[in-house]
Amino acid sequence: MAALPQYIFDSHTGFTAPPSPGWTFGEKVDETGEGRAWLEGDKAGWKFVEPEKEAPVNMYKLLVSGIVPRPIAFVSSESAIGVQNLAPFSWFNMVTFDPPTVSISILNSRGQQKDTTANIRATKQFVVNIISEPFIHQANATSIEAPEQVSEWVLSGLTQEASTFVKPPRVKESAFAMECELYDIIDIKHPGTGAANAALVLGLIKGIHVRKDVLNDKGLVDPFKLRSVSRMGDVTYARVGDAFRIARPGWAEGEEAMVRLGKA
Ligand SMILES: Cc1cc2nc3c(=O)[nH]c(=O)nc-3n(C[C@H](O)[C@H](O)[C@H](O)COP(=O)(O)O)c2cc1C
Repeated sequence: MAALPQYIFDSHTGFTAPPSPGWTFGEKVDETGEGRAWLEGDKAGWKFVEPEKEAPVNMYKLLVSGIVPRPIAFVSSESAIGVQNLAPFSWFNMVTFDPPTVSISILNSRGQQKDTTANIRATKQFVVNIISEPFIHQANATSIEAPEQVSEWVLSGLTQEASTFVKPPRVKESAFAMECELYDIIDIKHPGTGAANAALVLGLIKGIHVRKDVLNDKGLVDPFKLRSVSRMGDVTYARVGDAFRIARPGWAEGEEAMVRLGKA
């Protein structure tokens, strides 16, 4: 890989004001300099991609570069015969909070399910750990395609900590870890060939371990203390830089704006 500037650990600036603090309903993007510059990009023209006409590998590359940043589930699971497994998955998100559920999509590689999928099918249990900057190398190492009987834990240098409700251990170094039971697993079948190319795992969260030093005074996670890592395209990761807050508008404000805009 090309030489890049050194990593700066302490580069977070924290919370800033939003891009246009004075924005009101109906105000167009071209009303700010930044907005006008963004719209200039239109002059470069558009590329339209039809998945059915593309090689799957090109779809993979395009989608993982465009759907960013993605949170990463660092999944600890255990096989039916007790082999421990650890691997990162970025096709991951929260599904809902009541019941508290997460989703992880895992590819079947060359027609074969990955160890994580096989383990979750067999034991119906796993732990999703969130990765923080200080142990991204250890976490990345576990994405190695290791034989089934090999545990990535050894290569990673990470520490196992016993879970409370499930058999697979959590990652002790992770400041936010969710013990999950399998809620459902859905095979994602190709509409043309019928082949099950991926498994969508839905997990029901049974317990959450949160390290107290990453909490703010409201008892919630402070993103600048958690320092979580996300996935971008190719082999790129990203971290939380700045954060800004914009209140969700109430309908009273929207209704007023409709009158002002002459659309009421
Ligand atoms: C940051 C990162 C994110 C990844 N996300 C996914 C993913 O969402 N789905 C997937 O199938 N593989 C993903 N992979 C690849 C798996 O981690 C890799 O195939 C791993 O070896 C699977 O382990 P297992 O066979 O022990 O389950 C990702 C790899 C990295 C480094």
